Amino acid sequence: MDGPRLRSEIARRRTFAIISHPDAGKTTLTEKLLLYSGVLQSAGMVKNRKGKLATSDWMGMEQARGISITSSAMQFAYKDCIINVLDTPGHEDFSEDTFRTLIAADSAIMVLDAGKGVEAQTRKLFDVCRLRGIPILTFINKLDLPGRDPLDLMTELEEALGIQSCAMNWPVGSGRKFRGVVDRRAGELQLFEKTAAGGSKRSEIERIPLDSPKFDERLGAEDAEQVRNELELLEIAGNEFTMERFLAGEVTPTFFGSALTNFGLGPFFDAFVELAPCPSGRTVTRKDGTKEKLPATEPFSAFVFKIQANMDRRHRDCVSFMRICSGSYTPDMQVHHERLGKKVRLARPQSIVAQERHTIEEAFAGDVVGLVGKDLYHIGDTLSLEGGFVHEALPLFQPELFARIAPKNTSDRKRFDKGMKNLITEGAVQQVWADVGPRDPMIGAVGKLQFESLQYRLEDEYGVETRLTPLPYECSAWLADNEETFRAPVNSLLAKDKRGRRVVLFKSQLDKRIAAQQNPEHKLLDYA
Ligand code: G4P
Repeated sequence: MDGPRLRSEIARRRTFAIISHPDAGKTTLTEKLLLYSGVLQSAGMVKNRKGKLATSDWMGMEQARGISITSSAMQFAYKDCIINVLDTPGHEDFSEDTFRTLIAADSAIMVLDAGKGVEAQTRKLFDVCRLRGIPILTFINKLDLPGRDPLDLMTELEEALGIQSCAMNWPVGSGRKFRGVVDRRAGELQLFEKTAAGGSKRSEIERIPLDSPKFDERLGAEDAEQVRNELELLEIAGNEFTMERFLAGEVTPTFFGSALTNFGLGPFFDAFVELAPCPSGRTVTRKDGTKEKLPATEPFSAFVFKIQANMDRRHRDCVSFMRICSGSYTPDMQVHHERLGKKVRLARPQSIVAQERHTIEEAFAGDVVGLVGKDLYHIGDTLSLEGGFVHEALPLFQPELFARIAPKNTSDRKRFDKGMKNLITEGAVQQVWADVGPRDPMIGAVGKLQFESLQYRLEDEYGVETRLTPLPYECSAWLADNEETFRAPVNSLLAKDKRGRRVVLFKSQLDKRIAAQQNPEHKLLDYA
C-alpha cells in the first residue's frame, strides 16, 4: 500500500461509540445517521414492536447498499468519511464488552435526554471514555418534548461528570415550540421544517444569518430578543471551545436537537465528522518495557477487544473482533501473535452480515474486523506485522453482580473446571478468590447477560449444566496499594482477582462510600 493512499484512507475514518442511558435516543440517532448518510432512504423502518433495535433488526438492513454490519460495528460512508460505529449494547445486554468496546473507539457521542440529564449508565460509560481521555461530543436530545432548561443541563454535565461543556448550537424554543437552533460557529439561525412522515425523511433547513432583519421577522421580536440575550450570556459566561481541549477530553462540544423530528441533525452530523478525530495511533509497550505512541500510519497492528462464541450455529466457532490501530490489512497477511510468540496467517478476516460471511479485501486503521478461529485469540491480544510490542492492556471493570457457580452434577467437575478456565481467560466474566466460603468459583460481572451467556456456553460448548447462586454484593473496588491494612466494613468481603490484586466486594454503594471515608490512606479504584 502506498503511503498517500494509506494516509488518506486513515484520515477519512471516524471510529466512535454512542454512549447513553437506555431510552435517551441512541438507536434513533444511529438510524438517523444512516438516513443522513444516504444508506437508508427512510427512517423508522427498522424498529420492532417495542421500538428497540435488536442486533437482528440491524442485520435486517443488510440489504441496504453500502453498509456493513457486524455484531460489533457498523461501517458506512458519510460524505467523504468512512464511519465505524461501534456497538455498545445497553439495556439487558449491558456487559463488560460494552466497556471494552469503548477502548476500541477514537471518540464518543454522548446522548442525553433533555428531560432527564445525566443518568446512571451514561455516567459509567463516560467514566470509561474519561479513563482513556477520548474526545466526547454531547447531543442533548428530545428538545421537542418539555424538558429542562438548557443552561441547567450544561451545568449538570459539568457538575456530575466534571467535563466542561461548550454549546455549539443553542435551541430556539422548546417542547412544541422548538423551532430550530442557532449555530454559533456559523452565526446563523437554522429553522427546521417538520417532515410529513414523522422524521422519516431528512428535514429542510432555512438558514438565516443572525444579523439579518429576517431573524426578527421569523422569530418575532420577543423571541428574537430572548435568543439574543441567551447568546450574549453564553459569549460572556460560557466555556471556550478549542480543538486542543476537545481532543484532550477537557471540553465537550454540546449540541441540542431532536433525533426523532430531525431538528438539528444534519448540522450535528456534519460537525461530528469535522471535529471527531481520525485514528491517530496508540500507545504500545515494546519488549524492553519502553512505551511509545505508534502512529496510525505505521505498518499493520491491531488488538482483539471482543470475542463472540457461537455467532453462527452452522460454523460452531468463535469470532474475535480486532480493532486495527495502524496500517492496513491485506488478504493472507502473516502477522506476529505476540502472546503466543508465533506468526499467524490472517487468512479469513470477516465482515459478518446476518448469517452470511464476506471476506474483507482490505481494511485500514480504525476499522473492525472479525477473525474466525477458536482458542487462537484472547481479549487484549496484539497482532502486528513487525512484532515486538503489545498494545495497552484492556482494563478490568468493577463488577456489580456476584455469584458462585457450580456444576449441577459433580461428575462434570473436570469439564466444568476446563470450561471455566477457558471462559475466564477469554474475559466472559471475572473470577475472584477469597479464603472463606465454599470452593465453587466466585464470579463477577457488570451485566446479567454475562452470567447467562457463561452458563449457556458451559452447557453448549462443554456439556456442563450449572447452578448459579447469587451473592449479596452490589459493587466492588480494587485497592490501589494492595495493602492488607484496609479496614473493610463488616459485611464486605476481601478477595483477590486473577492477577492477584486485592479487591473488596461491598454490600451496597453506601458501604463503599463509608469504607472510602474510613480508609483515607487507601485509594479505591473502579477499574484495574
Ligand atoms: P435508546 O436506543 O437510547 O434506548 O433509545 P431509542 O432511540 O430507542 O429511543 C427511546 C424512545 O425515545 C423511543 O420511543 C424513541 O422514538 C423516542 N425518542 C428518541 N429520540 C426522540 C426525540 O428526539 N424526541 C422524542 N419525542 N422522542 C424521541 P418509542 O419508539 O415510542 O419507544 P418507547 O417510548 O415505547 O420506549
